[in-house]
Amino acid sequence: MSAFYVTTPIYYVNDRPHIGTAYSTIAADVLARYHRLRGEPTRFLTGLDEHGQKIERRAQEVGMDPQLYVDGMTAPFKEAWKALSCDYDDFIRTTETRHKERAQELWLRCQQKGDIYEAEYQGHYCVACEAYYTEKDLLEGGLCPMHKKPVDLLKETTQFFRLSAYTDKLLDYYEKHPKFVQPEGRFNEVKSFVREGLRDISISRGTFKWGVPVPGKPDHVIYVWFDALTNYMSALGGPTRAGETAPLFEQFWEPNAQVVHLVGKDILRFHAVYWPAFLLSAELAPPTQVWAHGWLTVDGQKMSKSLGNFIAPGPIADAVGADVLRYYLMRDIGFGQDGDFSHANLFARYHGELGNGLGNLLQRVVSSIVKNSFGGSVPSIDVSALTDLDRALMTRAQDSARVAALQLEEVNPNRALDAIWELVTAANKYVDQTEPWKLAKQGDLKRLGEVVYTVLESLRFLGVMLWPFMPEKCDALLSQLGLDKLVPSVDHDLWPAVFGGLQGGTQTRAATPLFPRFDKDQEAAILAKLSPKVVMEEKSEDKAAAGGASTVPAVATAGVTATVPTPATVQELAPAKDNIVIDDFVKADLRVALILLAERVPKSDKLLRLEVDLGPLGKRQILAGIGKHYAPEDVIGKRVVVLANLPPRKMMGLESQGMVLAAGDGSALSVLNPQKDLAPGSAIS
Ligand code: ME8
Ligand code: MG
Repeated sequence: MSAFYVTTPIYYVNDRPHIGTAYSTIAADVLARYHRLRGEPTRFLTGLDEHGQKIERRAQEVGMDPQLYVDGMTAPFKEAWKALSCDYDDFIRTTETRHKERAQELWLRCQQKGDIYEAEYQGHYCVACEAYYTEKDLLEGGLCPMHKKPVDLLKETTQFFRLSAYTDKLLDYYEKHPKFVQPEGRFNEVKSFVREGLRDISISRGTFKWGVPVPGKPDHVIYVWFDALTNYMSALGGPTRAGETAPLFEQFWEPNAQVVHLVGKDILRFHAVYWPAFLLSAELAPPTQVWAHGWLTVDGQKMSKSLGNFIAPGPIADAVGADVLRYYLMRDIGFGQDGDFSHANLFARYHGELGNGLGNLLQRVVSSIVKNSFGGSVPSIDVSALTDLDRALMTRAQDSARVAALQLEEVNPNRALDAIWELVTAANKYVDQTEPWKLAKQGDLKRLGEVVYTVLESLRFLGVMLWPFMPEKCDALLSQLGLDKLVPSVDHDLWPAVFGGLQGGTQTRAATPLFPRFDKDQEAAILAKLSPKVVMEEKSEDKAAAGGASTVPAVATAGVTATVPTPATVQELAPAKDNIVIDDFVKADLRVALILLAERVPKSDKLLRLEVDLGPLGKRQILAGIGKHYAPEDVIGKRVVVLANLPPRKMMGLESQGMVLAAGDGSALSVLNPQKDLAPGSAIS
């Protein structure tokens, strides 16, 4: 059986773990758990990127020796991943000897190939990116395109890697490995970048010391990205020197294993261009796949310390459970797409999908019917005698298992959850249709047994399929069904395939609800504890403006759009708000606005800048977070509904003078428009 090796980026230690780095790590853990369930030899690597100028400067800022500084940062990362049930097999640090030796070995191999030479480097360098930039890459005023801050000008004699020699070799490699980079759109970007022709890159630095010494040139350190990328191999004991063996490297690298690097889209170029070029030079196999996931914002805004919306994963996991956060992140955000972290959506999914959808199903059947009508044991039934309705659910379970597996093989965790959730929905519908409580009342134990068994077996499917996402909750669910915890082992495929695995007579263990409801006060207390300052401020502002009494921070935090979760299940997901009086509502100045002009806000795929006509209220500029769902030309000339008496707010340097109303979420979103062409400025009441 082919082995599976999944890696996260190794994180820079100048930051503490946050929701973004947690996202990559959780995704890797979900994949690792899935492959372990399938009985495949599996290895999951994460770790830390501890060298380079950025870290050296950070250590200087806090007045510490760099080694002591980086040593101190290991615990916060290990603790955070533990708190999120991320069960890695190895944790690599680039300051470890086992790593430094291998980075030097990779260097020597490239050197032997004749791909390393000395020359003068003159150009720009952004320490925050740890990346070289040419004049034309920079923004106006010589700013880094990623960080929008001034870059350093370097002029020094350094070692170069002959990347230019790999333009055609890489293109050829991409051609032969059509799934090397995912998603496909990102792969196309990589290919067009390479097609333009690659330039040689500087891979050593002589002006600071914090790095791996260049072999034979102790006054130079290896460029931090050359060093860092090697981690994926050094953790396995590779690349090996002549005569050495490294069993892990043999087992978990190509061609013997499926090697998947999960990375954020920000660092794709390093992984999809530099890394395979270094490896081809060293005559080593590139990884099987580089999967670039999207970038998370927080309540519609970029996460940053200066905004005060830096989200640490630990407190959320403490408040709602690690599994709920894991589920939310994997469910809410299309893997490969950008997404938004919102506390309100987290609660909506918790109550709607986990509580009402999954938790209730278990509770209704195990804690009441099985207990009361069958003395707590799984009824024994004749599977071949099941009705068409029962069979439909059975087929649904088997299909969900098949599709979810395919999606997880393809690294689409959110699509796997879509397939799994079809079973949750179908099972709930089945219970509504079969009305087991009526059968119980009528004393029809034979039919009741069939119905109950069909639901319990569906729950067993769900408990296993959801285990990679929510290991603790699923072990608890399986325990309620009277089953053991899942303990994956090599060569035992535990993935459900055939309906009927649950044995009649198994003693169930009814227990407390898996996803207990938080009442409004509890939810508000949790939010108050979790929400970063900026969200709380916006909450009170939104409250003041809209006169609402909601305790949940409005989802429309950035003054952009009001969004609610998935349209198909709005009732299920959007928590009901407390009653208000009409005076609260009339405070909101809602108006029909005519969109005169729309254009994209540079550097934002989410925001459109609109100029709207509000009739007697004049013309206004409004920034609307609808850019992923509407092209500017789609909305020009359209009438929409605007909340016109919000205080102006700045976003991306532009002022927004109102809020366009919309419904939906990250996957589907619609602006609201009046059915008739009313005059701009018409009041809504
Ligand atoms: O780049 N949304 O380290 P890093 C989603 N050391 N993912 C996010 C995110 C966000 N807002 N913020 C961070 C480095 N990430 C290098 C990597 S690998 C050989 C060296 C995730 O600490 C995402 O995976 O800046 C991104 O690629 C990674 O954290 C960057 O972490
Ligand atoms: Mg970064």
